[in-house]
Amino acid sequence: MLELNGICAGYGEIQVLWGIDMAVRSGEITALIGSNGAGKTTLMRALSGLIPLTSGKYVSEGVDLSKASAAQMLAHGIVHVPEGRRLFGAMSIEDNLLMGAYSRSVSRSELNRDLDRVYTTFPKLRERRNQAAATLSGGEQQMCAIGRGLMSAPRLLMIDELSLGLSPLLVEQLVAALRQLNSEGMSILLVEQDVTTALDLCHHAYIMDMGRIVRTGQGAELLADPIIRDAYLGVLED
Ligand SMILES: Nc1ncnc2c1ncn2[C@@H]1O[C@H](COP(=O)(O)OP(=O)(O)OP(=O)(O)O)[C@@H](O)[C@H]1O
Ligand SMILES: [Mg+2]
Repeated sequence: MLELNGICAGYGEIQVLWGIDMAVRSGEITALIGSNGAGKTTLMRALSGLIPLTSGKYVSEGVDLSKASAAQMLAHGIVHVPEGRRLFGAMSIEDNLLMGAYSRSVSRSELNRDLDRVYTTFPKLRERRNQAAATLSGGEQQMCAIGRGLMSAPRLLMIDELSLGLSPLLVEQLVAALRQLNSEGMSILLVEQDVTTALDLCHHAYIMDMGRIVRTGQGAELLADPIIRDAYLGVLED
């Protein structure tokens, strides 16, 4: 789906990513794990065309997207649900969702069908569809942000910090929704601080440290790895 080769990127003089090699496989959930400041968000920004690469490249199904803008990435079906959600607070849920589809030229009936699909995935959003996004709870905002991503009809959905600040019950609901979307064929790249949740949900995971990939493997395999348990689960289970 997405093949990353030696990606380097950063902010001005500051280099954050130091040669990232990664494969995001079609039809799979891929997790990206790492401590604060490891460079996970920066990698997502680089992949969604928000910051330029200083070297390396990424290719999706034979097309080199290394220099693609955010709009071009979107046109390729690669969508980023950013950290912090970034909803339009004064707009209703439904208008926020529709914003996700602004770049598609589809009929109103197709939009309604896609809206209906988002509302089926997140029934809470249907109930509150006329409510201003700013008045939603944190979990509802996250659903709305993911729903907005879905409205752009992505092939790859990249979600930064799925569970940040959410109750375990809501995280469970979101995880179930992602499993469902994935079983319908959507590829997902996930950044998640809760390592157990991430490794349990994903097919493959990449562990990032100081701008480099330090381990990769199947989720279940990493979850059972004593070194990973000690370094990541031990620290986070405090
Ligand atoms: N706009 C920016 N300008 C300069 N440096 C930045 C900027 N955004 C991030 N950085 C730096 O890049 C490094 C990686 O940050 P990044 O946000 O990618 O980490 P992260 O892995 O997503 O961390 P977290 O788990 O805390 O979200 C950090 O050292 C951070 O200070
Ligand atoms: Mg981050």
